Amino acid sequence: MICITGDVHGWEWRFDEDRCPYLKGLGEGDFLIVAGDFGFVFLNDQRERNFLDTLAKLPYTVLFIDGNHENFDTLFKYPLEMWNGGKVHFIRENVIHLMRGQVYSIEGKKFFTFGGGYSIDKYLRREGVSWWAEEMPSLAEYEEGMKNLEKHSFKVDYIITHAAPESVMNMIFPNHDPEKELNLYLERVKQLTGFRHWYFAHLHMEEDYPGNFTMLYTNGIFI
Ligand SMILES: [Fe+2]
Repeated sequence: MICITGDVHGWEWRFDEDRCPYLKGLGEGDFLIVAGDFGFVFLNDQRERNFLDTLAKLPYTVLFIDGNHENFDTLFKYPLEMWNGGKVHFIRENVIHLMRGQVYSIEGKKFFTFGGGYSIDKYLRREGVSWWAEEMPSLAEYEEGMKNLEKHSFKVDYIITHAAPESVMNMIFPNHDPEKELNLYLERVKQLTGFRHWYFAHLHMEEDYPGNFTMLYTNGIFI
């Protein structure tokens, strides 16, 4: 079973079954995918480490793409490893960072993942403490994504991103200039790639959009 949810932001209640009842549907061998802003590799304090140890005891695997609220210095200190066809960082044995531009096979389905996003509140944050330039993808990551999609003949089952493609973003916030480069890249992915459904987060709202797009926040959707 695979469940997808949106931004977690290091909020422990996002793993509380009473507050997020869909978690009760996840058991041994299942997967919860967080569509960015996981935020539990952020403060590097004891409480955070303890909570990651709590997550390590869950019967299911927590997979997350990165958003614009991640500590990229810490995230990239974890060794680069391969998992189910793509590059990952293992935070714990069952807490795994899915990287940008990768294609993974999970329960026989192909997932293309592409994290990253722009922080509209970055003026309130401090570089290296609460904001990182790596929140926006690099040219190498954009290119790697296209190369990996090409290897899979531009056909996957699901696409998981933090940000939205340009045409979808235009339905939500027509004025989204700072992030446009990423939105336009994702639009190109949308045009070139066959997929069943695309899930994204980032905007802290829940909504479906034409063309098989779903924006997620705290809801969980089983696929
Ligand atoms: Fe967020």
